Amino acid sequence: MTESKLAVVILAAGKGVRMASRKPKVLHEVAGKAMLHHVLDAVAPLAPARIVVVVGSGMEAVAEAARPHPTVVQEPQLGTGHAVLAARPALDGFYGDGGAGHVLVLFGDTPLVITATLQRMVQAAESAEAPALVALGFRSAEPGHYGRMVLDPADGRLLRIVEAADAAPEELSVTLCNGGVMLGRGPELFALLDRIGSDNAKGEYYLTDIYALAGRQGLTARVIETEEDEILGVNARAELAVAEAVMQRRLRDKALADGATLIDPMTVWFSHDTRLGPDVTVEPGVFFGPGVSVGEGAVIRAFSHLEGAEVAPGAVVGPYARLRPGARLQEGARVGNFVEVKNAVLGAGAKANHLTYLGDATVGAGANIGAGTITCNYDGFAKHRTEIGEGVFVGSNTALVAPVTVGPGAMVAAGSTVTKDVAADALAVARGQQRTVEGGAALFRARKRKNRP
Ligand code: UD1
Ligand code: CA
Repeated sequence: MTESKLAVVILAAGKGVRMASRKPKVLHEVAGKAMLHHVLDAVAPLAPARIVVVVGSGMEAVAEAARPHPTVVQEPQLGTGHAVLAARPALDGFYGDGGAGHVLVLFGDTPLVITATLQRMVQAAESAEAPALVALGFRSAEPGHYGRMVLDPADGRLLRIVEAADAAPEELSVTLCNGGVMLGRGPELFALLDRIGSDNAKGEYYLTDIYALAGRQGLTARVIETEEDEILGVNARAELAVAEAVMQRRLRDKALADGATLIDPMTVWFSHDTRLGPDVTVEPGVFFGPGVSVGEGAVIRAFSHLEGAEVAPGAVVGPYARLRPGARLQEGARVGNFVEVKNAVLGAGAKANHLTYLGDATVGAGANIGAGTITCNYDGFAKHRTEIGEGVFVGSNTALVAPVTVGPGAMVAAGSTVTKDVAADALAVARGQQRTVEGGAALFRARKRKNRP
């Protein structure tokens, strides 16, 4: 199918009431990405000439998420067939007498579908038989509320799809289910849609009614089968959780196949865009939020939480570390337990091994940040930067009150509160003077004992 001959329609107008959410259903996320974007990303490699998203009125957030693709508003929502018809005005050249090319319809609440499957549907449509309609189906042991696909026993053509709510008992026992994705030749598809009614259990215009109508007109419909996992429809939060589990399994399998070691894969949570280099080791219980990349050979130790962070080759993170957006660890840097890094660069080989907060900071190569060091980056109004030069040694329990600079090679004594810049190679001591009373402790104890009743 050449580029100019495919249009995609994504249905996302449903209210999604069963999600019990203020947020439109298709904006709920799987692996940190909206379901709608999963679908858009799956169709992108097909290079469609046009993608149209069908939304309900008042769903500006969905329209915003669909950009740059245009949206059409379907109001009221009278069913999936009605929704595809709502997209027609945006599909000139794909219907009517002069229409050419195919229209691929997907549901915004079916986020696990993969490009290769869509390509199989396109191939079926382009086969010598040239079926007018190609539907995506799957076999399920628990077909539940899915539409049932009734095939011609003689030649396997799709005769009709019966919605569960309208199915007779013998139809309910059919295990071949409608995944919702369909591909049709534009002119035939819209001509069929013009003829569907709403005389059914839900009083809706079902997209699925076109198959029975097609048969009566001598048009052929075929089913492409795929795995149930790929076509899971999300209607409620429980199904969203199942979709998440399926996606996590895929992401873990991919990480392993690409050469990362996951000691206990089931306990590692990935975002859709997590990038792990070869020979990265991830210990149990690690969470990757969006926008994390980890370079070759780096180790992410147990119970660390990373988002928007870049970890260079050979760096070590955790256990129990938190990397927030803008954290950048250069080669061989180390961030240890109970250390939080935000919008800060740790130079090559720099170390912050224990109990530290580094925010809005630059730490030079080879610097050593002692336990309990805090960059005081916020004054209640604005954020300020802390610059720590190469090879600096910051003693334990130091507060660096930003904006402040510690020059290369400088040392800061433990327990300091640094408010003024420290020059290169200088030693800063900013703490109360120690006073020692010889024998003072003994004297104290003696006095206490004497007063004891
Ligand atoms: C639909 C199919 C069913 C299939 C199942 C797969 C129909 C009639 N039924 O049922 O055969 O097994 O999906 O998941 O097609 N939408 C609109 N406008 C509307 C109605 C729905 O845009 O007026 C959108 C929804 O936002 C959703 C999608 O279409 O993204 C599917 O609608 P939904 O109501 O969830 O259909 P199902 O009952 O799941
Ligand atoms: Ca659904």
